[in-house]
Amino acid sequence: MASVLVASNRGPVSYVLGEDGSLDTRRGGGGLVSGLSAVSSQDSVWVCAALGEGDREAVRRGVGEPGVRMLDIDPDVYADAYNGIANSVLWFLHHHLYDIPREPVYDAEFRRRWESYRAYNRAFAEALAGAADEGAAVLVQDYHLALVPGQLRELRPDLRIAHFTHTPWASPAYLRMLPDDVREELLWGMLGADELGFHTSAWAESFAAGADVAGTGTRVAVHPLGVDAEELRALAYRPAVDERLAELRAEVGDRKTIVRVDRTELSKNILRGLLAYRELLTARPEWRGRVVHLASAYPSRQDLEVYRSYTTSVAALAEEINAEFGTEDWTPVLVSVKDDFTRSLAAYRLADVALVNPVRDGMNLVAKEIPVVSEQGCALVLSREAGAYEELREDALTVNPFDVSETAEALHTALTMPHPERADRTKRLATASTALPPQRWFLNQLEALRGPA
Ligand code: F6P
Repeated sequence: MASVLVASNRGPVSYVLGEDGSLDTRRGGGGLVSGLSAVSSQDSVWVCAALGEGDREAVRRGVGEPGVRMLDIDPDVYADAYNGIANSVLWFLHHHLYDIPREPVYDAEFRRRWESYRAYNRAFAEALAGAADEGAAVLVQDYHLALVPGQLRELRPDLRIAHFTHTPWASPAYLRMLPDDVREELLWGMLGADELGFHTSAWAESFAAGADVAGTGTRVAVHPLGVDAEELRALAYRPAVDERLAELRAEVGDRKTIVRVDRTELSKNILRGLLAYRELLTARPEWRGRVVHLASAYPSRQDLEVYRSYTTSVAALAEEINAEFGTEDWTPVLVSVKDDFTRSLAAYRLADVALVNPVRDGMNLVAKEIPVVSEQGCALVLSREAGAYEELREDALTVNPFDVSETAEALHTALTMPHPERADRTKRLATASTALPPQRWFLNQLEALRGPA
């Protein structure tokens, strides 16, 4: 039994099943892992889903980490809930990604998947109800688990429940696309919480504009997650990163660098970023041969066809740019499609310019990480639709993510920014980025939950 419980789809560990039947443990990082380390593991439980065969086998064999409870949900129910609803419906709504003439289509198949989403949430609510001490604090994470607060409230009215949304929240017009009863159920689930947390006031306001919060007893709060400077610098200045940096330096030479690091995610706007780089090379030919775009676009959600074809388009456009402008000794875009955090950290250190141009994004921690790690200071080109915009806009070069020409011009301004100005701005960006490191972010939510309700 635990007094602090966290619930998220993806947990802090995963297991890979070897051909010889062995199980290899992989530990993940990220804000939540770091945040939860602020409380003793003896009092806490992290409930998460078994994501693949390795995880399921670990559950069957009773292998596990102390303080982590993995749920072996029926694979078909899981696939419908995670791919079919969370990533194909809720993600698209919150990031405004629908191609409106064709989507969304809420039909009988959607209804079937919605039932799976409800069952998957229910499995979490039951596991939490069974593991929580009287009056325990439960911190539920993200759009995957939007029904859990309401379901858990019914099972255990004594608990203090928070829900944190790591994505944006859909505007009321987008939310209204959902069938009325589904929208009402979604909001009922969320409003089962004592506190609903968001990264920025824009997303909190979006929620409040589409839901009737008055009289529900639910508080809407803003907790903008930041980075832990010490932890990140320690990671970025390891010998393994030094080695990758030396390799990258050899490839880049004395050219300037524009760095971006993302999952190949539809909301990250990687294609328009590449188009802006192409326009820079066209409109400002003086940059040809003098700049390299280092783009890490590591695969994500490849079960979904729309993500696979997006990944293919990113690689094809990068190749086109290289074919159009490349010379024998200059490759304009260096794309890495591997999930290679060591290379990403090396690129962070090398960045003259950081490009973060999502069409809509909950926070975007890359915008906060690069200024903390870059060696010479970097100019940040930042979308006004990223959550990080609220805290970083004064010292970033801000852009409309749909305006490719404006982004190209911002890249030019960033590349030509005088060194002292770049250093000053980077210092202030790093200060803003580290204002609320993960442990404090987590404890603030816990304290708010335990305070007078
Ligand atoms: O941005 C929301 C989020 O859930 C993040 O917290 C997480 O890094 C990301 O999406 C990854 O999604 P997935 O678990 O589907 O790879």
